[in-house]
Amino acid sequence: MSLTVRTPCGAVRREHVGSDVDLYGWVHRRRDLGGLIFIDLRDRSGIVQVKFDPVHAPAHTAGGELRSESVIHVHGLVLQRPPGTENKELATGALEVEAHAVDLLNRAQPPPFAVNEDGVVEEQLRLRYRYLDLRRSRMARNLQLRHRVAKAIRDFLDDEGFVEIETPVLIRSTPEGARDYLVPSRLKPGYVYALAQSPQLYKQLLMVAGLDRYFQIVRCYRDEDQRADRQPEFTQLDLEMSFVGEDDVLDVIERSFAHIWKQVLGITLPSPILRMTHAEAIRRYGVDKPDLRYGLEIEELSSIFAATEFKIFRQALDTGGVVRGIRIPRNLGGKEIEALTELARAEGAKGLAFWHREPEGWRSPITKFFSDRELAGLLAATGAQSGDVVVAVADRSDVVAAALGSVRKSAARLLGLIKVGAFEFAWVTEFPLFERSKETGEITAAHHPFTSPRPEDLPLLESEPLKVRARAYDLVLNGTELGSGSIRIHDPEMQQRVFNGLGISRSDAERKFGFLLEAFRYGAPPHGGFAYGLDRVVMLAAGEETIREVIAFPKNQQAEEVMTDAPAAADPKQLRELGLELIRRPPQTR
Ligand code: AMO
Ligand code: AMP
Repeated sequence: MSLTVRTPCGAVRREHVGSDVDLYGWVHRRRDLGGLIFIDLRDRSGIVQVKFDPVHAPAHTAGGELRSESVIHVHGLVLQRPPGTENKELATGALEVEAHAVDLLNRAQPPPFAVNEDGVVEEQLRLRYRYLDLRRSRMARNLQLRHRVAKAIRDFLDDEGFVEIETPVLIRSTPEGARDYLVPSRLKPGYVYALAQSPQLYKQLLMVAGLDRYFQIVRCYRDEDQRADRQPEFTQLDLEMSFVGEDDVLDVIERSFAHIWKQVLGITLPSPILRMTHAEAIRRYGVDKPDLRYGLEIEELSSIFAATEFKIFRQALDTGGVVRGIRIPRNLGGKEIEALTELARAEGAKGLAFWHREPEGWRSPITKFFSDRELAGLLAATGAQSGDVVVAVADRSDVVAAALGSVRKSAARLLGLIKVGAFEFAWVTEFPLFERSKETGEITAAHHPFTSPRPEDLPLLESEPLKVRARAYDLVLNGTELGSGSIRIHDPEMQQRVFNGLGISRSDAERKFGFLLEAFRYGAPPHGGFAYGLDRVVMLAAGEETIREVIAFPKNQQAEEVMTDAPAAADPKQLRELGLELIRRPPQTR
């Protein structure tokens, strides 16, 4: 067979006019005009129009039989399209290729959904035929964007002196707070590996090894309930640095994003990225991942109502609680307020107080309970204008934060305040070291147990552990947590103090993390690092709503891969070898 030079469909240009080209691709669309037949021929690079003229009879006959998504080779002549027939949407839109010969390389069945349209197709169907879904322009674009983001990261970190090092996936469990995927061992019957939830401990050991600046674009595995921004396997950009403090890590991460956004989207990000403490984020936005694309900040109102006789507020304040509110610049109707009240209740609030601001003053079922001074204070604190509504919650400060955080988000959507195409990054620093687990009531690590406490809070470590702040930070974009990191503990005694706080005894610690404590005794440098979700970064850069749209073969909400039908039943022989017997329970039971 002679070698033909392939011209990518999307690369046909004016300088090709008058030359012969060989195109290979898929039949995107066919239009039969009686005499002339046109097809749009597609490959990864784009689309070009091919014209079948009856003058070239064999090619014209073959063209008449082509079906959507069949794979063909066309040999033809590049022509200028007749004036008035150009397509401005296409890079090749001023040109067409007159087919002189056609090979049908593979005939396609009619696809289960239109590949040549970006219309809505049920997601299960898209996932079942993912290889067809990925032919659609939006998905193809997303995967190429993902490649460019990963490349930009690698280029940047290489320039900064980072070394990419692979760490094992089959490991002993590393606590990142999620359930492990377990892999039974055949050679050591009765024992399991865990799939790595992150390379956390290995990257710290690489610092002990003197590697200084490590990174890895790495698959991580977590058996969690699925959400729009969560998959059982996902990809992190993971990095670690020696001899650094918070500012050094934040600076590298910040510049990596500036580089990605510039390279991939052509956008210059404002620098530096805004920083706020965890306490401030919770106070002003109700959440630890504030969406800064809109205002609607939470106002502290406790002092205004310090002497109030309104029973609900009185009781909250007398039991150490707070009153906070949000000014919503819209005259909300009863139904809208009811919906916001439900959201507040779902977060544990007992209700949502509200006042309409009118030219004559405040209007609300509860106005009568407040003094003129209180109502004037409310006006001054919120800056409410006629036509606005102020809502407030009185309760324990964590309940108020959660309730108003949820109200804030919903009000922003309701009012259409979310700027399209905006990228609002924020650092949230000084996370608490510990938190109380909602499920078990036990004290757990807010980030992970290897995070350093802030030195000024060390005196509280044993007496008031929940008040200790950590040298931990998150990066947030548009209200999504992109990544987390911390300055680590590198001293075995400090590590044991934190383990104690978590109820991990010396002997437990030796058993589970002995290798780490031991490594710290052989000269561990001070170190810290960060990891961000590549899937989430690409999702936001692509303007998508879920990370499934930027993963080639994602799992569905039930963590199934529907194309190959995984998970699947195990072969009895494999189970015997592993010494396993599986019990089948109905789905969802845990
Ligand atoms: P963390 O557990 O916060 O930190 O994870 C870092 C980032 O990984 C992404 N991520 C996920 N993305 C998709 N699906 C998931 N199930 C999922 N889980 C996490 C998020 C998250 O911010 N070892 C530490 C980092 C460090 O301290 O250096 C860690 O893994 O974007
Ligand atoms: P009630 O006396 O329960 O009818 O409540 C009077 C108003 O106060 C209603 O609008 C409630 O939604 C609101 N409310 C009740 N509990 C709270 C609370 N904890 N914080 C703010 N508003 C509340």
